[in-house]
Amino acid sequence: MNGFDNDTYLEKINKAAAYIKETAGGSFSPEICVVSGSGLASLSSFCEITKEIPASSIPGFPVSTAPGHEGMLFAAKAGNKDILIVNGRVHYYEGYDMRDVTMYVRVASVLGVRSLIITNAAGGISESFKPVQFMAISDHISFMAESALRGPNLDDFGTRFPDQSAIYEPAYIDILMDVAKENNINLLSGIYAYTKGPQYETPAEIRMLKALGADAVGMSTVPEVIVASHCGIKVAAISVITNLAAGLSDGKLSGEEVITNANKAADDAALLIGKLIERI
Ligand code: HPA
Repeated sequence: MNGFDNDTYLEKINKAAAYIKETAGGSFSPEICVVSGSGLASLSSFCEITKEIPASSIPGFPVSTAPGHEGMLFAAKAGNKDILIVNGRVHYYEGYDMRDVTMYVRVASVLGVRSLIITNAAGGISESFKPVQFMAISDHISFMAESALRGPNLDDFGTRFPDQSAIYEPAYIDILMDVAKENNINLLSGIYAYTKGPQYETPAEIRMLKALGADAVGMSTVPEVIVASHCGIKVAAISVITNLAAGLSDGKLSGEEVITNANKAADDAALLIGKLIERI
């Protein structure tokens, strides 16, 4: 059906998972997957990397072309927990279809991952959000985008119509809030609007998203979170507010500013993630 071939996709997922497991050492069994967003590639300081696996070496694995996203996976240890780190996820705007964009989540699921911790860079819409600070995503708006679950259901992973009432694990948000407070990190929770990009939004689009209740906007994360919810994986998602969204400041938006500001947040992001992992 229209390019959706579940058997081929499943085979690709299983092959990639088997390759990662073998390359990382057969005993590698991650329960947690951490994904670093734009400009946050250096946030692996919360763990000890045991194996570097270039995305390009993994059979069938999509490779990022976006600036600030080096295509690298890491097998890592934090305390006694095995962690899979994905640096350089791919985006819909690069031309990948939603199944490629979200493939790493299914691969992680096959490897045994039960918790996904995602970071991204986002533009602030709510007056409460100023660059550079953090937002724990509590919910999202993405009805304008194609669903990553479109096509025949992958029954091996989950149900046709997955519930979306609480896909950002409330207990993880509570932990992040506690950690932020204990460490003087500026973190609020809020609603993330997904836009497909690659162009930034127009001021009119931002006014619309604001009227709909969005607190921040970005071009990633949501497809993967939807797939994680389909797989029964719990999610924590942290946005770094790198800029005011279009029309909310006098300046123009630029990818360079996003990466520069995300870099500034990398140490605090690593701290938040490290402490979350300890308490999961
Ligand atoms: N819009 C969309 N994506 C983004 C932004 C933004 O303002 N900032 C960082 N990623």
